[in-house]
Amino acid sequence: MAADLARIHRSAFVNARPWSADEFQHLMAQPGVHVRAVPGCFAMGRLVLDELEILTVACAVEAQRRGLARQVMLSLCEASAVLGARSVFLEVAADNVPALGLYKSLEFEQVGRRSGYYQRRDGTQCDALILRKSLT
Ligand SMILES: CC(C)(COP(=O)(O)OP(=O)(O)OC[C@H]1O[C@@H](n2cnc3c(N)ncnc32)[C@H](O)[C@@H]1OP(=O)(O)O)[C@@H](O)C(=O)NCCC(=O)NCCS
Repeated sequence: MAADLARIHRSAFVNARPWSADEFQHLMAQPGVHVRAVPGCFAMGRLVLDELEILTVACAVEAQRRGLARQVMLSLCEASAVLGARSVFLEVAADNVPALGLYKSLEFEQVGRRSGYYQRRDGTQCDALILRKSLT
């Protein structure tokens, strides 16, 4: 499982450091961490009390635009709601057009902005947007 997640993550995040299988293994062993996956795509979140934080969502390049990320995000949110989640939060780079499209389609709303939060390998900076969606 961890190796599959690492492969998908490496394929999806072309401009960021890929997370290793060991890192995924470690994350999945932590309390409250849940994963929903289908072949080629997964979403991972951490449930703390009544808040779900999305840790990452990724879809392998060859599987994109087939509704898979939408499917795993909805599944993770629904499962978390059953476990007591009332809202879900995530951070996204302000220039990540595909992810912003995904979250808009899932009816997330912007609740904050962290200026220059992401430091890119080329030295540039990008704001992080904080998005929220109610699960109640
Ligand atoms: C963001 C990502 C997970 C979307 O995965 P996906 O499986 O292709 O997304 P879906 O097919 O479920 O798309 C759902 C909706 O999101 C939006 N969307 C997805 N990709 C898009 C793109 N390239 N451009 C604009 N909107 C996009 C659309 O509204 C889409 O619905 P539609 O296809 O009916 O128009 C994928 O592009 C990815 O892995 N990107 C790299 C990793 C990343 O940035 N993760 C998010 C970090 S915060």
